[in-house]
Amino acid sequence: MALRLGDVAPNFKAQTTAGEIDFYEYLGDGWGILFSHPADYTPVCTTELGKTALLKDEFAKRNVKGLAVSVDPLDRHEGWVKDINETQNVEVNFPLIADGDRNVATLYDMIHPNADTTATVRSLFVIGPDKKIKLTITYPASTGRNFNEVLRVVESLQLTSNYSVATPADWNHGEDVIVVPAVSTEDAQKKFPKGVKVVKPYLRYTPQPNL
Ligand code: BEZ
Repeated sequence: MALRLGDVAPNFKAQTTAGEIDFYEYLGDGWGILFSHPADYTPVCTTELGKTALLKDEFAKRNVKGLAVSVDPLDRHEGWVKDINETQNVEVNFPLIADGDRNVATLYDMIHPNADTTATVRSLFVIGPDKKIKLTITYPASTGRNFNEVLRVVESLQLTSNYSVATPADWNHGEDVIVVPAVSTEDAQKKFPKGVKVVKPYLRYTPQPNL
């Protein structure tokens, strides 16, 4: 069955471009992004891996480790990484899983047979320090994902987990956030010294608390 938000992310061991990895050990007590792509030496995937490598510092700032997966073998991954580095002007700095036996793809339901019977689609999972799934997205092979959007969601998730705030539609870093309904206005006023703007009893804003 497909994994859903709040489910425990299954652990696995896998061969990667950085040697054998135990997923949970790799994540440690930080956040993780596990994302699949259909195949090596393909144009959209090349730009995606390049973009994630470029965003390395942004992911590191948020204590997020990336791990890519496709069913291609290790020697193809290694050759392709050289191409990515050359064409995208980056240094790919996270492991790529060689999932030839489809173990990870099956655990995470990354093969959608009505789209492609063998290749993984563009699945992406954000996993929290409690090893639970916080975000899932699925894109078709022909559409590259927006990794700045993934970062934006990670920042929102971390604000919720650390400060009991939510983020409104189209929120971006630095903008006001929403006090979650579980926090009373009285408690919010104590918790958020920068102030609470009450638009309606259920719609309350406060400046982003960690800035
Ligand atoms: C790509 O990564 O460019 C790609 C892969 C499979 C189908 C279409 C595009």
